[in-house]
Amino acid sequence: MLPLARLMTALNQNLVKVETSKAFTPLERQVLAMLHRLVYRRDDAFYPPWIHNSQAALGAFCSGGTIANITALWVARNRLFAPNGDFQGIAKEGFGRALRHRGCDGIAVLVSERGHYSFGKAADLLGIGRDHLVKVRTDAHNRIDLKAVRDEYRRLRDGNILPLALVGIAGTTETGNVDPLEDLADLSAEFGCHFHVDAAWGGPTLFSDRHRHLLAGIERADSVTIDAHKQLYVPMGSGMVVFRNPTAAEAIEHHANYILRHGSKDLGSHTLEGSRPGMALLVHAGLSIIGRKGYELLIDLGIERARTFAAMILQHPDFELTSEPELNILTYRYCPATVQRHLADASTDECSRINTTLDQVCQLLQKHQREAGRTFVSRTRLRTSRYDEEITVLRSVLANPLTTDEILSSVLEEQCEIAARADIVDLLNRITFLEN
Ligand SMILES: Cc1ncc(COP(=O)(O)O)c(C=O)c1O
Repeated sequence: MLPLARLMTALNQNLVKVETSKAFTPLERQVLAMLHRLVYRRDDAFYPPWIHNSQAALGAFCSGGTIANITALWVARNRLFAPNGDFQGIAKEGFGRALRHRGCDGIAVLVSERGHYSFGKAADLLGIGRDHLVKVRTDAHNRIDLKAVRDEYRRLRDGNILPLALVGIAGTTETGNVDPLEDLADLSAEFGCHFHVDAAWGGPTLFSDRHRHLLAGIERADSVTIDAHKQLYVPMGSGMVVFRNPTAAEAIEHHANYILRHGSKDLGSHTLEGSRPGMALLVHAGLSIIGRKGYELLIDLGIERARTFAAMILQHPDFELTSEPELNILTYRYCPATVQRHLADASTDECSRINTTLDQVCQLLQKHQREAGRTFVSRTRLRTSRYDEEITVLRSVLANPLTTDEILSSVLEEQCEIAARADIVDLLNRITFLEN
């Protein structure tokens, strides 16, 4: 796609300071502006004062969604505890004095139970504490439950804990669902907290005229994470966070004497990482070569492929669809028709026992499939509304538009063949034995 020499040049730049990235510093700022525009849809007049303004940052480039999420919450935290009167800000005075200054006992981040584990790392690193990462219950479609958000908020306030941020997910890692972002934007405004959207996976859905509406409300987020190495199909190591307010990142600005001097254009003054390669070139190449229309096609086909696979699973007597695809991710499990009949009439306790055995079946099945190396699905554990308990499910991500119907049905065929192996039949027999 790119001449090798150009690619090597990009990867050998060091984007932390302008001396080592004379062309790439403005290029990275331009790419961040392109992504900012995709999310916030500001008009032409908005960008010229900000794109190359060293005092501002439309976003921060980083190695991936984890760092992007941490950066977003870092900005939120430092803005919540900004310098005020005698208090010189959390960045200078630290957490203890910051809490005393605000008269609270802690701060919290609210995210659904489907939130990526990077928020746990952020809570730990930023001094929030993993206990104050509130994992809010989800509804039957793996979206954050709005009533539960309110309940958790009240519980926090009663305990004198300030909500730092409410996080919406646009494309949950395990199931590809999208939280109700408009509602979360309203709640964030009501609570007076930062609204972050983790669109690491689903952000590029904004390229699709047909599916963009799923992310309505994202433009009201204070910060948005997008991973280019996911659905922008560029190589690993390209994450971004964009900020609605181009001056928000002032809250994490830092300087050093030998680089990142005051007034310099060094990108490192607004990033968590130091030395970084010029991955922005690859994102720029993707946006120029694949382009809006190309990404729209990739997104639309991925969603269509996932729906087709879901329909195949629903029609197959020996599989159970455990989450409907909203984007291009779905989950399901092997559950033979005889066991499905048992489950339909079983008591809650019996269901639980059967599910424990089915968990082992799915685990073994996925392991044998991975070892055979012909087709691959991952697995996870989810609480589904049908059983109201965590079960083991197979997870499929349909990100290759060339995945044909034949490939999809061959995955199910192979899984049925594997399920006929002695160790799995043995487990399944235990279920029927239990029920007789
Ligand atoms: C929704 C979401 N957020 C954040 C991340 C973390 O991204 P990375 O692995 O690039 O750090 C992922 C990765 O799977 C993700 O799915």
